[in-house]
Amino acid sequence: MDPEDPRARVAYHRIVMRETEVCVHRDLPPVRMWSYGGSVPGPTLETRSGRGLLVEWVNELPARHFLPIDPGLCGKGPPPPEVRAAVHVHGARVRPESDGNPDDWFVPGNARISHYPNRQDAALLWYHDHAMGISRLNQYAGLFGLFVIRDDEEDALDLPRGPHEVPLVICDRLFTAEGQLRYPVSSMPDAPWVPEVYGDALLVNGTLYPYLDVEPRRYRLRVLNASNARFYYLSLAGGRRFHQIGTDQGLLPAPVEVDSVTLAPAERADLIVDFSAAAGQRVVLKSQALELMEFRVGPGRGVGAAPLPARLRPIAAIPPAAAVKTRRLTLNQYQDPKTHMMLMLLNGTRWRDPVTETPELDSVEIWELVNVTEDTHPIHLHLVRFQVLDRQGFDVDELLASGTLSLHGQRVPPSPAEAGWKDTVRADAGLVTRIVIRFEGYLGRYAWHCHVLEHEANEMMRPFQVVAARG
Ligand code: C2O
Ligand code: CU
Ligand code: CU
Repeated sequence: MDPEDPRARVAYHRIVMRETEVCVHRDLPPVRMWSYGGSVPGPTLETRSGRGLLVEWVNELPARHFLPIDPGLCGKGPPPPEVRAAVHVHGARVRPESDGNPDDWFVPGNARISHYPNRQDAALLWYHDHAMGISRLNQYAGLFGLFVIRDDEEDALDLPRGPHEVPLVICDRLFTAEGQLRYPVSSMPDAPWVPEVYGDALLVNGTLYPYLDVEPRRYRLRVLNASNARFYYLSLAGGRRFHQIGTDQGLLPAPVEVDSVTLAPAERADLIVDFSAAAGQRVVLKSQALELMEFRVGPGRGVGAAPLPARLRPIAAIPPAAAVKTRRLTLNQYQDPKTHMMLMLLNGTRWRDPVTETPELDSVEIWELVNVTEDTHPIHLHLVRFQVLDRQGFDVDELLASGTLSLHGQRVPPSPAEAGWKDTVRADAGLVTRIVIRFEGYLGRYAWHCHVLEHEANEMMRPFQVVAARG
């Protein structure tokens, strides 16, 4: 998307949320969706590190939702209006007023201006709806898009660019027999929330099973998992290997050769795929047995590329000893004894409970994510980037019975492909996942949560408050 006035010192964009009809496949009728700017995904915003930009987010959505809202998900008090929106740029370091806090929603007929300073490294960020109790439906309806930050350091590397750099936004959906979006419901009419949604139709950049004509050469694929709950285990058919060069928050120290990449909801991977030995062939991108898309490699002799740069960007490890605080935070599942409703919690607390995580600005903390559930939860913190230290087993039954945490087994460091700057980390079942975070940026209230959107809605989301240093 081009700014409104290309000569302005601070780029200004106006993006209108509205209902639209999207062609997801030539054999299907148009699909009713909600969009940023008329397309799904929304327009890609592109900027440079240190170059601020303003976005006016305008809510022109209809007054009624077309997906099954659950009025019980917003805590006590009068029910909020049915249609509401908050826009968050995932991975952006911004002031709290511009962060799209779940409680900062606004209704149709209103707009918000957010300022993104972009004082951060080149990375693939994305924007999406974040309105309390409803963002899983708003995102499912189509409210997401890409936000790319570039910088000189990345430009200096000889990476594929222009038509050879391709963003791939992956999501899954369910469709009705009429070819319209379907979001499943529980068996309880006044509590339609379901714990996870998995679609059997996979879309890449808003299209069902697309193909892309490519040249027999190297490509840079920038992949985002924009699904509500589905994890992807990306590989190329035929066991073809490729390289991962970046994670959520930018480039890795060096390329890592891989044959598959795991992406939980909201995670990103920056990949280099070399089609030069595949002239005239079709290469399928899959997730386990599911096919996502096809690359149709053109004829001709492969363009022999220079080797990939051996070094991409140095990443200074945050020493665990620099941490002034270690927080032990459980991920639990909980059944309400009265209603028998299942819900998921962070540290046994809910979104509206008082803030308990109050890191000091610029301080370093270790967060130990103790997962007592049977699922992996992708945990995301707003504002910050962090590093994964390790994962280790513990005795779940003992913790549940007595509250004692007995660790066992090895501390497993992250794989080289996960050893970059992250903003979302997979906290696996039955493990303690340790991350180290420097709380750089701004004072104020932010959110951290599970990025399985159904979990986030029911109540796997908590505030944290960055406070001034007391020392
Ligand atoms: Cu992707 Cu709280 O966000
Ligand atoms: Cu975020
Ligand atoms: Cu979760």
